[in-house]
Amino acid sequence: MRVIVESSPEQVARMAATFVAALVRKKPTCVLGLATGSTPLGLYRELIRLHREEGLDFSRVTSFNLDEYVGLAPSHPQSYRYFMQHNFFQHINIDQRNTHVPDGRALDFEAHAEQYERRIKDEGGIDLQVLGIGSDGHIAFNEPGSSLGSRTRLKTLTSETVRDNARFFNDPAEVPRLAVTMGVGTILESRRCLLLACGRHKAEAIRATVEGPVTAQVTASALQLHRDVIAVVDEDAASSLYRREYYCEVEQSQQALQAGKLKFGA
Ligand code: GLP
Repeated sequence: MRVIVESSPEQVARMAATFVAALVRKKPTCVLGLATGSTPLGLYRELIRLHREEGLDFSRVTSFNLDEYVGLAPSHPQSYRYFMQHNFFQHINIDQRNTHVPDGRALDFEAHAEQYERRIKDEGGIDLQVLGIGSDGHIAFNEPGSSLGSRTRLKTLTSETVRDNARFFNDPAEVPRLAVTMGVGTILESRRCLLLACGRHKAEAIRATVEGPVTAQVTASALQLHRDVIAVVDEDAASSLYRREYYCEVEQSQQALQAGKLKFGA
C-alpha cells in the first residue's frame, strides 16, 4: 500500500484531487466510486474548483456511490444521495443519469443489490474508488465481522458507527440502523482505491489498516490484498503508524526518480 502523509486536511484534499483529476483527464469516460462523510468533502471542493477554473470535464464520467441509509428518501438531507447532489454533483457537469447511489427505499433489497453489482459490471467496473474510513476501521458500511468477500447487501450498523454519524442528525434516535452498502469484495474489484483519513480519531484505524493483520474485524485491512491502493492521510491520522518515516522516504525516492534526480550508490 502506498502511504502519502500530508501536513493538513487541505493538503490531503489537494493530493487526492490530483489522482482523480489525472484519471478524468486521461480517461474521460472513467467510472468513479465515490464516498460520503466529512473526509471527502475537501476532495469534492477541490474537484469543483478544477472544474470551474480549469475546465475539468465530468460530462462522460459515471459514478457509483458506496452506500446509503435504509429508509431515507433521496430528498432527505441526511441521505447520501442528497449529500452527493449538494456537495458535488450539482456543482460539476456530470450527467445526473450516470450517477448511481444505492436506493435506501428499495422494495426488494436483495434484487436491488444484485442490480447495483450488475450495473457496475456493465459499466466496465470501477476505475478509482474513493474511500473514507470509520473509526472502527470500516470501509463503506462494512462493519467489523463483514466477510472480506462480501458483495452489495444490507448491513446493520454498529452502535459506534451510529454514535459517530449522529452528529449529522438533529436527534440521535433518527440515525438509521441499517444501510445498503457495497461489499468488501465489490470494493476490492476496483482498479485503484484511494483511501483518505484525517484526524487523530482515525489514527488507530489507519494503523490497523496499513500495518495490522488482514482481518474482517478491520475491513479496511483487506485493502492490503489489493495491488493498487493509495492512502492519503494527514499527520494526525498518520500519528500511530510505526513505519511512518519509511513511507515518507518511499515518496521522496519516488519524487526524485520522477525528477531524474535519484543518485545511485556505488
Ligand atoms: C460512514 C460512511 C463511510 C465513511 C465513514 C467516515 O460510516 N459509510 O463511507 O468513510 O462514515 O466518515 P467521516 O469521513 O465523516 O469520518
